Amino acid sequence: MRAIGVKEYGGPEMLEEVDLPAEGAGPGKVRLRVTAATVNPADILARTGAYEAAGRPEAYVDVPGLEVAGVVTEVGAGVSTGVAVGDRVMGIVVRSGTHGAYREDIVLPARSVVAVPAGASDIEAATLPMNGLTALQTLDLLALSPGRVLAVTGAAGAVGGYVVQLAKVAGLTVAADAHEADEALVRKLGADVVVRRGGDVAERFRAAFPDGVDGLADAARLDAAILTAVRDGGAVASLRGFPGDGQRGLQVARPIVSTYAEEWEKLDSLRRLAEEGKLSLRVADTYPAGEAAEAHRRFEAGGVRGRLVLVLRDRAPFSGWRSYLAQGFSVGGRSERRAP
Ligand SMILES: NC(=O)c1ccc[n+]([C@@H]2O[C@H](COP(=O)([O-])OP(=O)(O)OC[C@H]3O[C@@H](n4cnc5c(N)ncnc54)[C@H](OP(=O)(O)O)[C@@H]3O)[C@@H](O)[C@H]2O)c1
Repeated sequence: MRAIGVKEYGGPEMLEEVDLPAEGAGPGKVRLRVTAATVNPADILARTGAYEAAGRPEAYVDVPGLEVAGVVTEVGAGVSTGVAVGDRVMGIVVRSGTHGAYREDIVLPARSVVAVPAGASDIEAATLPMNGLTALQTLDLLALSPGRVLAVTGAAGAVGGYVVQLAKVAGLTVAADAHEADEALVRKLGADVVVRRGGDVAERFRAAFPDGVDGLADAARLDAAILTAVRDGGAVASLRGFPGDGQRGLQVARPIVSTYAEEWEKLDSLRRLAEEGKLSLRVADTYPAGEAAEAHRRFEAGGVRGRLVLVLRDRAPFSGWRSYLAQGFSVGGRSERRAP
């Protein structure tokens, strides 16, 4: 079974094709043939070893990746979610060692896997599970009632974009930051008010809402610099674990999406919202899995809108997938073509 991982932490060039033993689906688990896996900020941390104390992966190789789409090849005993062999599904991966999304065969808890939204390709569907659940958890933690005002930073990003869309579904008024070039995108996602991103963004939110916003989802990691946008006693969700400054009674929450990884009903609600057109599945570009290093380089350069998706495929060497992509190929019945 092939995967893309690092035997030594470092730059994108450390990503290489590795052989790993395949596993069967144990009780409560399903096994997938992975067709698509997204590139997320945490994958960079996995690659560089930011999560580890030592210089080399403990398990011989670390495989990055937190979300996948694919086809079910095996269903373990006691699975009661209704999933069956042959189903096209998407799932969230709680990564550890060789257990990451950049592999062609993966075993996941059945409760981490739901059907691909009707009408979506595998490539599109792969962008939803982890980032959608993160956005959902962010809103759950903020616990704002309909009509309240939520500010979102990094609104053009994957998490920020889903937060904006889910907040509108929840009946919130949404203020979002955006670069000029992203303003139309962020408005299309549903933001009621858009302020320019940058150094004075907290003041700009305040100018729009002089009493301060009721809640803030900080997907751009602005941390202390953004807190003045929020009213006294307001709610803050920091996506990268900023604990707050202990001032003005702000309630600071820190989403950890792995704690939602088996929230099947929530994941399935995301599928439904995507089918209803209330969540957009944004793909920036696709790369054959063998070109994961290139995808990482591009992601780290910033400015990617929508997710970069690695395409995995059986019965072809990773390095040979470019030709499939160049010709355009079908995943789940829809044609995907790599942008020039
Ligand atoms: N806690 C959890 O469980 C969890 C789960 C998932 C993600 N996360 C974290 O959530 C954060 C967002 O993830 P993501 O996948 O949405 O990343 P993303 O797609 O790269 O989006 C981040 C967005 O923030 C923008 N940005 C960067 N610096 C900014 C600044 N100073 N002001 C305004 N906008 C800025 C980026 O723009 P540019 O591209 O132009 O830089 C990008 O549009 C990451 O830190 C990620 O690690 C946490």
